[in-house]
Amino acid sequence: MTADTIDLTPFGGVEADAAWRDEVRELARQRDAVLLAHNYQLPEIQDIADHTGDSLALSRIAASSSAATIIFCGVHFMAETAKILSPDKTVLIPDARAGCSLADSITGAQLRAWKAEHPGAVVVSYVNTTAEVKAETDICCTSSNAVDVVASIPADREVLFLPDQFLGAHVKRETGRDNLHIWAGECHVHAGINGPELAARAAANPDADLFIHPECGCATSALYLAGEGTVAPERVKILSTGDMVTQARATKAKSVLVATEIGMIHQLRKAAPDIEFSAVNERASCRYMKMITPAALLRSLRENRDEVHVDPEIAARARGAVQRMIEIGQPGGGE
Ligand code: 13P
Ligand code: SF4
Repeated sequence: MTADTIDLTPFGGVEADAAWRDEVRELARQRDAVLLAHNYQLPEIQDIADHTGDSLALSRIAASSSAATIIFCGVHFMAETAKILSPDKTVLIPDARAGCSLADSITGAQLRAWKAEHPGAVVVSYVNTTAEVKAETDICCTSSNAVDVVASIPADREVLFLPDQFLGAHVKRETGRDNLHIWAGECHVHAGINGPELAARAAANPDADLFIHPECGCATSALYLAGEGTVAPERVKILSTGDMVTQARATKAKSVLVATEIGMIHQLRKAAPDIEFSAVNERASCRYMKMITPAALLRSLRENRDEVHVDPEIAARARGAVQRMIEIGQPGGGE
């Protein structure tokens, strides 16, 4: 029987679950592999991983791990980033089709044309970009350190920020820079979490904290709600996924409305089991993240696939920007 024929989503019962876990752990041990999972992965993938966290925390772990193989349970640009940082390691993603609509919103050629319009500008790219775009970039960032990265650039230098317009608007607000140009890209999942939906949920739950990912279309609306008094300003928190976990452990609130991809709720409930977490938009599921099924993870370990390759010349040009990213800002809360 091949892994493709094993139906593990949903699991086939307690015994199949235990057999799957045992085989995954044993194969990972034999291959000297570390299993990394992003906070949006399916609960069973998060639970079997060695480390679950946000993009920044996982990049840092990938860069410092002594394992020979990295199995990246996330989307393709994350595995590619691990390969850029560790070219001598084998990096596998359980399903290479797991892409990202945000990373697809700008190409290397489009960035080169944008740079030509702004000679001398510093290029800051969100980690949700292809290796080719990173190779054209001065500093990469994640949602966890985007403000720190832009704040580290001399105030008189123009900045090109890409590709997420909502994260860009958040960075512009926080740094107060008016020489920050923002690419008009978006993530289809986060852009779909809109202001009216958030306003209705917040009005029905006046004592709840709001945890909002800066990629969301509703981030500006949340600050507006705080400004007009619908929500107490201290209850509105714009956070990366790793910082949501840290904040869940710290808050005194009894309920929290969460505006991001729904996989996040699993990690939040584990961090703070007494708090009631609910999604602002329960349909906000990333189909790419969900391609990493238990069967795909097992197949990856059994058959050594899908291996991630980055052209060495592109990786060499991208490496400096990614290394600057992992050096700037505080860890975003991996475990
Ligand atoms: P973070 O984990 O960095 O907050 O990123 C969220 C995301 O959308 C990754 O695709
Ligand atoms: Fe990309 Fe959005 Fe999915 Fe994150 S949630 S991987 S940004 S498509």
